[in-house]
Amino acid sequence: MSQRTIALVTGANKGIGYEIAAGLGALGWSVGVGARDDRRRTDAVEKLRATGVDAFGVPLDVTDDASATAAARLIEERAGCLDVLVNNAGITGGMPQEPSRVDPATIRAVVETNVIGVIRVTNAMLPLLRRSASPRIVNMSSSVGSLARQSGAAGEQAPGPVAAAYPPSKTFLNAVTVQYVRELSGTNILINVGCPGFVATDLNGFRGVRTPEQGAAIAVKLATLPDDGPTGKFFEDAGEVPW
Ligand SMILES: NC(=O)c1ccc[n+]([C@@H]2O[C@H](COP(=O)([O-])OP(=O)(O)OC[C@H]3O[C@@H](n4cnc5c(N)ncnc54)[C@H](OP(=O)(O)O)[C@@H]3O)[C@@H](O)[C@H]2O)c1
Repeated sequence: MSQRTIALVTGANKGIGYEIAAGLGALGWSVGVGARDDRRRTDAVEKLRATGVDAFGVPLDVTDDASATAAARLIEERAGCLDVLVNNAGITGGMPQEPSRVDPATIRAVVETNVIGVIRVTNAMLPLLRRSASPRIVNMSSSVGSLARQSGAAGEQAPGPVAAAYPPSKTFLNAVTVQYVRELSGTNILINVGCPGFVATDLNGFRGVRTPEQGAAIAVKLATLPDDGPTGKFFEDAGEVPW
């Protein structure tokens, strides 16, 4: 079994995921760059290696069962276990998506990636995570998935556009995360949800105001929590986000 800390970041070929891989790699960790496209994955791995990161490519389409299974096999053969899984891959499904006009196919596609994709990859990786001394799972969500903020509860301001696919997919992801926390209570696996803030990436046509590196910081923090750190919480840089 590898002595080095091993991490897998999904959707790591660009945007926030790439910077999460860079941030974890800077700690001296071995980082699996999960990406579905061969060329984009190879380019990202080469770019990370050029900066001294011990990066390796992991072919991974989070919507595909066989792909998730193969990714777990690859990591098992390479390292024998997995210490940190960052479920970062995500899509918006494109805007607008007002509830009264949204195409149900958009909702299905977004949930398939943002929710079922996380479940699929997490379940494929759980046997490897269970072999780690300090396993962590970080699910990249968004404050747009916070029902408290969307409903203006407790004086919270509703972020993002009115949309029936992307924000609810993150609410769904948050809810699923809480159920994983319940099932895995009593194990040493810490599972938390992170929001990167409004980051300039392809996801939003680069309209975000934060850099991908800034957006990655919360994931790096949750990936490196101490053994007595929190689990089952939702964090952004400023602190805890209300569910
Ligand atoms: N940007 C923001 O302001 C913001 C705010 C809150 C939360 N987030 C969340 O942060 C995460 C990263 O977003 P980002 O802004 O960095 O977006 P991005 O630049 O569009 O990157 C998304 C990544 O996910 C990958 N991906 C999408 N579908 C996939 C699939 N089926 N299998 C594998 N990989 C897939 C993409 O790969 P391809 O290159 O192959 O498409 C890409 O690597 C997402 O979960 C997003 O919801 C972002």
